[in-house]
Order: sequence, then C-alpha cells, then structure tokens
Amino acid sequence: LPRFYHERVVDHYNNPRNVGSFDKNDPTVGTGLVGAPACGDVMKLQIKVDDTSGKIVDACFKTFGCGSAIASSSVATEWVKGKQMEEVLSIKNTEIAKHLSLPPVKLHCSMLAEDAIKAAVHDYKAKYAKLGSAEEEVAHAEKAADA
Ligand code: FES
Repeated sequence: LPRFYHERVVDHYNNPRNVGSFDKNDPTVGTGLVGAPACGDVMKLQIKVDDTSGKIVDACFKTFGCGSAIASSSVATEWVKGKQMEEVLSIKNTEIAKHLSLPPVKLHCSMLAEDAIKAAVHDYKAKYAKLGSAEEEVAHAEKAADA
C-alpha cells in the first residue's frame, strides 16, 4: 500500500478482522453483496442475527477490491457486531472514511461498506418476513384442516 495511507488502513489491510463466509441459506444470516460501478470492486458482508432480540451476534466479509475497501469492510464488521439491526442502518460511509482517514478519491470504497451493511440487514429482514408468512400459511392450513 502507498505510504500516504493511515496506519489504521494498513492495520486492517494486513490483519483484516472477520474474514469469512456464513451459509447464506441459514435463516439467521443476512447477506449483502454490493459492487462499486466506478472500479468493479465487490464486497460481501454477512451478519448473523439473534431472532428474538434482533441483535447482530456475528459478522464476516469477503472483499475483492482495493486496500481501502478491505479496510472499510473489516471496520464495518467490527462496528456492527453486538448492535441492533436498526442501529447499524445509520452507520455512514463518512464515519468509516473518517475513522480510516481515507483520501477523497477513496470515499467510494467506504460507500461499499455502508451499502453492504444495509443490504445485509434488508436480506435478513426479507428472509425473516418470508419465513414468517410461510409459518402463517402453515397455521392457516392447519386451521382450515381442523374446521
Ligand atoms: Fe474501488 Fe476502492 S478503488 S472500492
């Protein structure tokens, strides 16, 4: 990495936190897969959610992109862990960029992380809603069968 990068970027780039994948078919997992049209870099960020409390109990990422994107996703996984889903929706790319002291040309790299967090939460919620309606359908069917 060029020398002008902040030591936090270098640290997260050299020792990225929470690299990995969860099973995307696991109903407690939300997957956010986003790309940056400007450069073609891709980021996958996943959250594991506790169904009863709505708390994010774990997070991981895989990023095919530049050092700033890798550092941004590493920071993002650290920031979302232990938080409520609603809370992490307000994480702004500018906060991540500030934390890492990203130069302006690298702002879009932190945007990927913000987008990926949102996408992961939406994916989880969509899955959960689907699961909920499937259970309702079963309940309805059972009721109808009883009648
Ligand atoms: Fe595209 Fe960083 S250069 S994500």
